Amino acid sequence: MIIEPKTRGFICLTAHPKGCEQNVMNQINYIKERPVANGPKKVLVIGASTGFGLASRITAAYGSNAATIGAFFEKPPTEGRPASPGWYNSAAFEAQAHKDGLYAKSINGDAFSNQVKAQTIDLIKADLGEIDLLVYSLASPVRTHPDTGQRFKSVLKPIGSTFTNNTVDFHTGEVKNISIAPGSDQDIKNTVAVMGGEDWQMWVNQLKAAGVLSNDFKTVAYSYIGPSLTEAVYRKGTIGRAKDHLEATAFNIADALKDINGQAYVSVNKALVTQASSAIPVIPLYISLLYKVMKEKGIHEGCIEQIERLFNARLYAENLELDEAGRIRIDDWEMRHDVQAKVLELWNNVTTDTLPKLGDLKGYETDFYNLFGFKVDGVDYKKDVNEMVEIPGLQ
Ligand code: NAI
Ligand code: NA
Repeated sequence: MIIEPKTRGFICLTAHPKGCEQNVMNQINYIKERPVANGPKKVLVIGASTGFGLASRITAAYGSNAATIGAFFEKPPTEGRPASPGWYNSAAFEAQAHKDGLYAKSINGDAFSNQVKAQTIDLIKADLGEIDLLVYSLASPVRTHPDTGQRFKSVLKPIGSTFTNNTVDFHTGEVKNISIAPGSDQDIKNTVAVMGGEDWQMWVNQLKAAGVLSNDFKTVAYSYIGPSLTEAVYRKGTIGRAKDHLEATAFNIADALKDINGQAYVSVNKALVTQASSAIPVIPLYISLLYKVMKEKGIHEGCIEQIERLFNARLYAENLELDEAGRIRIDDWEMRHDVQAKVLELWNNVTTDTLPKLGDLKGYETDFYNLFGFKVDGVDYKKDVNEMVEIPGLQ
């Protein structure tokens, strides 16, 4: 079929298999030139199909020849209806990995559930024996608690008072004011239940109890901080409470891993266009200004550049360069004083009329379409493609 983008607000309902494949190949080729010395060998990635998780899987596999198991929650294709992009990404990654002689299998299901955890543990036992790295890169708006069956919904709201600021509709380029009413205590609890650290801890506990963690095992989960501009809706909002919880969980996990000399870290990453971040108000406008500034300074990175630097310059390097709160910081270039000062200056002058000049709305838009395999260089979108692509290592 011929597949075209069908957008509804900040989501796209279709995805292009060839475009997704090209994105994956570009990431693989980037990592092939940047091997990771003493990198991981047997890796489980939760949230492995898109964004930072996919980049982590590719970096482990192609940076240090790691066997990878990916867990994710993606929609398979049906006749005439394309799959979700993470499905096509995983299909492309595993097909190429198998060609290159790398072990790569995956589990598609709800990683919050006990069932997916048990299935993953069985697969590790059967095929790998143990893992030496767990990357936790799940981003979800909902979680059903595995023990109680209770369903939680996360929200993106400020805490305490209404937040009013500029945002952009990146399809039209219209800059407008939005006000977001504060979340309730229940909203905070729900958001922490979904995006906090409880599930990460459950994964590690169950993997450890099953005896499938190697000595010197490492685990890393991803967090975000960002500037004061977005603080009210991000770091000091409901999602920020979840990130506080996630970061605190790293210390609990590290304690639980002492007997196997294990380590648990949170890495604070840069703001990037992903399916998760395009849903957050204000962030797209911030990102389009940030991209402009970072590209001008020659320090722009996407997911693969970020994760390559995480592995090569932090996780598997001599010095993790932890901050005062014990976190890895690969948002260091985003947070540079000169970068933030320039973004703030642009922010104060940005309107619908000035955005095309001040910001990198084009870059934002292209990245957004790229997430779904559209507007990718080198792909012929007029050519018929088979939407019924299988993931070769799917269990
Ligand atoms: P994403 O939306 O690209 O990826 C989410 C992944 O989680 C996908 O693989 C998806 O299939 C999987 N997933 C969702 N629900 C699932 C479920 N119930 N069971 C199994 N898998 C499930 O998100 P992104 O942006 O890569 O986020 C990953 C982490 O990085 C999140 O913790 C996010 O907060 C963090 N982060 C994101 C930043 C950004 O700007 N995008 C910046 C810094 C941190
Ligand atoms: Na290294």
